Amino acid sequence: MDVKISESHEAMSYHAASQVAAYVRARESALICFAGGDTPLRTYQILIEMQKKGRVNLKDSYYVSLDEWVGLGYADKGSCQQMMRDGFYSPAGISESHICLFDGLSGDMSEECEKVEAFIRRFGGIGLAILGIGMNGHIGFNEPNGSDREGCFVIELHEVTKRVGQKYFPNGVPLSKGITIGYKTLEKADEVIYVAGGEKKNEIVKLILNSQPNPEVPATMLKNHHNICFYLSGMSFI
Ligand code: PGA
Repeated sequence: MDVKISESHEAMSYHAASQVAAYVRARESALICFAGGDTPLRTYQILIEMQKKGRVNLKDSYYVSLDEWVGLGYADKGSCQQMMRDGFYSPAGISESHICLFDGLSGDMSEECEKVEAFIRRFGGIGLAILGIGMNGHIGFNEPNGSDREGCFVIELHEVTKRVGQKYFPNGVPLSKGITIGYKTLEKADEVIYVAGGEKKNEIVKLILNSQPNPEVPATMLKNHHNICFYLSGMSFI
């Protein structure tokens, strides 16, 4: 487990983006899993800037979504799909055939799970995953004491996830379930990147760094991954 501490969110994002760029450069077509959320957005912008300068080509890689709020779709500002399309896939010029996203509005969630699982299988697994860390230690919607199934699943959201998740939706939306790639599938990625920053994440990050893997704090479950790096900023306890 590698831990890289940066002095600012900007520097942290630059370091995380550099790792992604190196991974993408080394492969003709990589399968990347990018988390939505506030923390990794700057990393994605830096990748787009790198592409504009000719330092990386993001368009030959493939992308799978990590999660989505059940009942929300692209038209809902703050949904994972809206954040990732507007924040990365569109400005990076990624073609639709290179993207597989959960549709939170689908009437058949098991079909959504199968769709994303089949996409991941096509590439023999995820190559690199960037994951944010929730205030309750969740990754994607792998919730505290949630499912440890392989593949994708729908899950009842933890109280903290429902409460904190409202920050993406200024007008308020009912949040009850999520659809996600499970950590058992994420842990098979070649490289895992965690990004976390700011005073509010200090307590949970400290807990994760100091705990043995346990399902109560899902982010700990990938701690023993053979190639995992925590990119952190604003951690006053370190
Ligand atoms: P955040 O979300 O990056 O917006 O803090 C992290 C998460 O809940 O996964």
